[in-house]
Amino acid sequence: MVFFVLLPRFLMAAVMFWLLDFLCIRKRVFFRMKEQEDDAVDPPLCISDSNRLFTVESLKAVWHGHKLDFLKAAHLGQGAPNTEVVQLEDQRRGVVEQNADIADTVVVYIEEAHPSDGWVSTDAPYQIPKHRCLEDRLSAAQLMRLEVPGCLVVVDSMENSSNAAYGAYFDRLYILQEGKIVYQGGRGPEGYRITELRDWLEKYR
Ligand SMILES: *[C@@H]1O[C@H](CO)[C@@H](O)[C@H](O)[C@H]1NC(C)=O
Repeated sequence: MVFFVLLPRFLMAAVMFWLLDFLCIRKRVFFRMKEQEDDAVDPPLCISDSNRLFTVESLKAVWHGHKLDFLKAAHLGQGAPNTEVVQLEDQRRGVVEQNADIADTVVVYIEEAHPSDGWVSTDAPYQIPKHRCLEDRLSAAQLMRLEVPGCLVVVDSMENSSNAAYGAYFDRLYILQEGKIVYQGGRGPEGYRITELRDWLEKYR
């Protein structure tokens, strides 16, 4: 059942990837996207010329992402799934951030979008293999912690319950209030819009 629901969007993505492997098309698409980007807050979508997009591993990753998104428990306006996460060692909690007066921030590190033994990307700043145990995941998350100083970082359990409940793969933003989901961002990377989150918080103020 899930298979047939997901098939059309998966095939669309596959065709997109196939087309983007023609450099002339890739250049044109990304040129167009760059022109439309007016807000520097959102991380830009970037693919270098040297990485092939249409591969078995990339298609597996896209399928995985669509499936998680389709089966997620998290929906706007509904109760926020309270999934299990694991704390990193020796981390001070509750450090002040931009919106610390109205919101606590937490980063839940799930899995690698581009593991060195999966959908490899030479653009990735780190070469990290798929996590085989919680220790692998915790040590990879230590690197992430350096990227987000002042923000609590926790990791998904090895059952990947947060990733599944929130359809988080590749990356996704949420705002929770009193146990409810009040903002649900789109699937990253295309739907990962920090500006949307910022606007929501500004309106809330
Ligand atoms: C959780 O995700 C990892 C990838 O980081 C994968 O290797 C593992 O098999 C997944 N666990 C389950 C229970 O699906």
